[in-house]
Amino acid sequence: MAFPTQRPRRMRSTPALRRLVAETDLRPRHLVLPLFVREGIAEPVPITSMPGVVQHTRDSLRKACAEAVAAGVGGLMLFGVPAERDATGSAGVDPDGVLNAALREVRAEVGDAAVLMADTCLDEFTDHGHCGVLDAAGAVDNDATLAVYAEMAVAQAAAGAHLLGPSGMMDGQVGAIRDALDAAGHADTGILAYTAKYASAFYGPFREAVDSQLTGDRRTYQQDPANVRESLRELALDLDEGADLVMVKPAMAYLDVLRAVAEAADVPVAAYQVSGEYAMVEAAAANGWIDRERAITETLTAIRRAGADVVLTYWATETALRLD
Ligand code: PBG
Repeated sequence: MAFPTQRPRRMRSTPALRRLVAETDLRPRHLVLPLFVREGIAEPVPITSMPGVVQHTRDSLRKACAEAVAAGVGGLMLFGVPAERDATGSAGVDPDGVLNAALREVRAEVGDAAVLMADTCLDEFTDHGHCGVLDAAGAVDNDATLAVYAEMAVAQAAAGAHLLGPSGMMDGQVGAIRDALDAAGHADTGILAYTAKYASAFYGPFREAVDSQLTGDRRTYQQDPANVRESLRELALDLDEGADLVMVKPAMAYLDVLRAVAEAADVPVAAYQVSGEYAMVEAAAANGWIDRERAITETLTAIRRAGADVVLTYWATETALRLD
């Protein structure tokens, strides 16, 4: 019988060889930790569908951010959960609203040691739970929403966010925010554009995390999971409007989209490993069905391999500590 002359296994035979030739690396600096801060609570509130993740008080948020930064994470992404909601999401624009107040405190705590980011979107703040304001017929009004995003962006920049993350998938949101920031003297505040954001079942646990009031769905503004070409169009528009980084979301079920965006983009690319991706691994691991730490590292490595420079993940601190 003929023996193989090509033996790829040779390079897998010791940990040192595998380490030497690994094509993809995962470092703490690549990771961004999303956090939730809720108004009016005295203690952190666990999120049932995301074991290990909580809605923070302003105090516990500061501590969690300081720990993440000490672990070496690259960034923090803050989401606010207000006590009162209204039709236009005015608590998101209010400089003293929970998210803006928290941004100010976290920036004072961590300074420039990590990149502080804010969710620039209305769904946490509206009483109907949509990412924008509604017209008389109850549909999400794109252009009226842009005006609110513009105000919200200026408030978040003033509160100390380094990067803003418009996640509402309104047409023209990057351009509207860029113009507003520049006009208000915040030319140095950047935009992490949610470029390809799909209408996904994997956001399920996030809705609990922000006490979402949504009853319908977001399919008139978030993308159809069937499409990839559409994401390249969204990419071209976001780059043209001034996006500093672009993001694909969710991550795992959209690695092909991530690859396509990474190949076409001339700015850094982020991917968001969303709440449902987190919950699936935690649930399977809790049942003893998969090795939790290996699954976490494998998913994050896969997202990096597909082309993400930056990965938003609820495991950011833990992973950064493990990688150290
Ligand atoms: C909207 C927003 C959502 C997420 C991030 N930003 C929810 C949605 O679009 O319904 C989901 C994140 C996650 O599931 O982890 N502001």
